[in-house]
Amino acid sequence: MGRQVLVTGGTGYIGSHTVVELQAVGFDVVIIDDLSNSSADVVDKIEKISGIRPAFEVFNLLDSVKLEAFFEKYSKIEAIIHFAAFKAVGESVAKPLAYYRNNLVSLMNILDCMSKYKVPNLVFSSSCTVYGQPDQLPVTENTPKKDAESPYGNTKAISEEVLRDVVKVTPDIKVIALRYFNPIGAHPSALIGELPSGIPNNLVPFITQTAAGIRKQLSIFGDDYNTPDGSCVRDYINVVDLAKAHVVAINRLLNNSNADRYEFFNVGTGTGASVLEVVKTFEEATGVKVNYKIVARRPGDIEKIYADTTIANTVLGWKAETSLHDTLLSAWNWEKKIRNIE
Ligand code: UFG
Repeated sequence: MGRQVLVTGGTGYIGSHTVVELQAVGFDVVIIDDLSNSSADVVDKIEKISGIRPAFEVFNLLDSVKLEAFFEKYSKIEAIIHFAAFKAVGESVAKPLAYYRNNLVSLMNILDCMSKYKVPNLVFSSSCTVYGQPDQLPVTENTPKKDAESPYGNTKAISEEVLRDVVKVTPDIKVIALRYFNPIGAHPSALIGELPSGIPNNLVPFITQTAAGIRKQLSIFGDDYNTPDGSCVRDYINVVDLAKAHVVAINRLLNNSNADRYEFFNVGTGTGASVLEVVKTFEEATGVKVNYKIVARRPGDIEKIYADTTIANTVLGWKAETSLHDTLLSAWNWEKKIRNIE
């Protein structure tokens, strides 16, 4: 058996892809998930891809009694990747307390257990949302952070500060925060992918559902931004590439004793793509037309953001590999599979 890693939120979108990549290089993965935004059959799909069934425990991380019992049971865990969190920007505006409680208290419970049960390593899911609309592009890790645009974004910004402060006074703990840009796409097997509940908020699931005939029309939120074609620009990162960044981060925590004990990295491609470019690339990759119309700007959207990935490339030794074309094709293959489209 390989070294044991706990993945919270391991049946979720990014979590499940990361479990598969960890297993592929020999890690023994244990998942905690409360199934609040995912389903238990993801564990079957993970097993189908990797041939290995990860241990799986269902509970909410706010339950510190269960979390302690978990660490009593799994005493060989050496590192944690903490994905489990609420992530809907709009919902967080409506339910700030639920977001602050869930995202912050679960992290604090994990940090308590890391000290108590001597688990020294943590990879934390952060977000480029901590940069807001940056004054300069691309954003480096040292680009000043801005006030968060939403309670969700604020939970990520506050979590980073909690981690920094805890690491300062806890010499046994090392943390890497990964600031994700916009994760999209699905596993090439089309067995796991993003499954939004209800009407998707995010662009790519909305595109694939429109192409599948589930949604009538994609609304493109604004074409009058200060960008080459007027639509917003983002850095869309393939979810498998993103998953691999976690494996690299775990290996760095486990094997590189010279690294700073609190580090944070941008995880993006380094290239921005506009909403209209994404739609066009999707159409080219799949041969399927997307019915869309331009509508008013979406409140709270930032105009453009993309990563400077120099530090991730050089220090972490990680680089995004998959093209936008192939990533959008993978998203379509996943949508087709779950909708039984030939
Ligand atoms: N968009 C549309 N139509 C849609 C959905 C999205 O035009 O139906 C546009 C948005 O206006 C934006 C782009 O597509 O320009 C990407 O939007 P997403 O909702 O997919 O992603 P965001 O960049 O808004 O949000 C993402 C993550 C959040 C995170 C945020 C940080 O989903 O978790 O990045 O910037 F907080």
